[in-house]
Amino acid sequence: MTDRIVKVALGDRAYDIRVGGGLLARAGEHVAPLLHRRFAVVVTDENVAARHLDTLKRALALQNVGCETVILPPGESQKSYAGFERLCEALLALKVERRDHVIALGGGVIGDLVGFAASVLRRGMDFIQIPTSLLAQVDSSVGGKTAINSRQGKNLIGAFHQPRLVLADVDLLDTLPPRELRAGYAEVVKYGLIGDAPFFGWLEENGAKLLVGDRALRTEAVAHACAHKARVVAADEREQGERALLNLGHTFGHALEAETGYSQRLLHGEGVAVGMALAFRLSAQLGLCDAALAPRIERHLAAAGLPARLADVDGAGGFTAEHLVAHMQQDKKVRDGRLVFILAAAIGQAMQRDDVPPAAVAALLGEQLAAAA
Ligand code: GLY
Repeated sequence: MTDRIVKVALGDRAYDIRVGGGLLARAGEHVAPLLHRRFAVVVTDENVAARHLDTLKRALALQNVGCETVILPPGESQKSYAGFERLCEALLALKVERRDHVIALGGGVIGDLVGFAASVLRRGMDFIQIPTSLLAQVDSSVGGKTAINSRQGKNLIGAFHQPRLVLADVDLLDTLPPRELRAGYAEVVKYGLIGDAPFFGWLEENGAKLLVGDRALRTEAVAHACAHKARVVAADEREQGERALLNLGHTFGHALEAETGYSQRLLHGEGVAVGMALAFRLSAQLGLCDAALAPRIERHLAAAGLPARLADVDGAGGFTAEHLVAHMQQDKKVRDGRLVFILAAAIGQAMQRDDVPPAAVAALLGEQLAAAA
């Protein structure tokens, strides 16, 4: 099967997203031409290193690219001031030069952290994303958002810094824990819901087969999602407009993640799944879309093994609407003190709204929380 290549058209910062099977073992062919000297640093975490680091090292060695590695503990806690400091010091201790490339081999945590370090080290180094989770392949590795977390919320300290290349090897998805794969699938569904009704229909038909491991369907879904994101990022890199639509479900989702302590109780993609269904429920409540859409979306998410309603979230019985709304006030999308929601007129027709009455949000949350109690 030949690779699919998606171009991110950003002028002199344009780059390719290459999607396919067996790409990690061929990574050297695509990485080597970008390098100024035959050297790169691979940053990964212990879990990914155990499964995939040797394959990448061999692939680089085949092209005579020498590499150093930095192996971090796994988990979101690395996206902290302390984790960021440790990584920067480790990279500097390896004497990385400004024109060297750092390779982020891992999921969203590694990609966000390495990208942010690359954005500031020696005032800006190049980096390459080799995403190993579905969530990273279809969302976080593409588009240059990099960040660490603050005590005030997720991803609040960061930079836009585009990678030079993204290599999405769909075979790596075989080694993901099923729950993590399903969480990433929520971000795939997101593209259908925001701007591509036929893709949502395709997912309703093919999602189950894709989740159990069909390589061709996975390649199609990842390439389709990346092409969508590439178009949006090329048009609105810094999220002045339509890029914000990619945050469908995220205002609710981030609040739920905060309420569950950014823990295994709720993975990011699971929060997005519940958040997307809530966004369609809110849209219906405000008279923007047909009330039958939210149940249809919930059915698809639930069939994929994802939580779709507040009641599906661990500990939802203890949440309050006030707390959840308070978390939303810290959202990066708050504008002039007003919450910005991504709502929809139909599947594939998302829109931004900053005029949602807080009472409507609280009422929807209250209603779903009552069902969870
Ligand atoms: N994850 C949303 C974006 O990259 O804009």
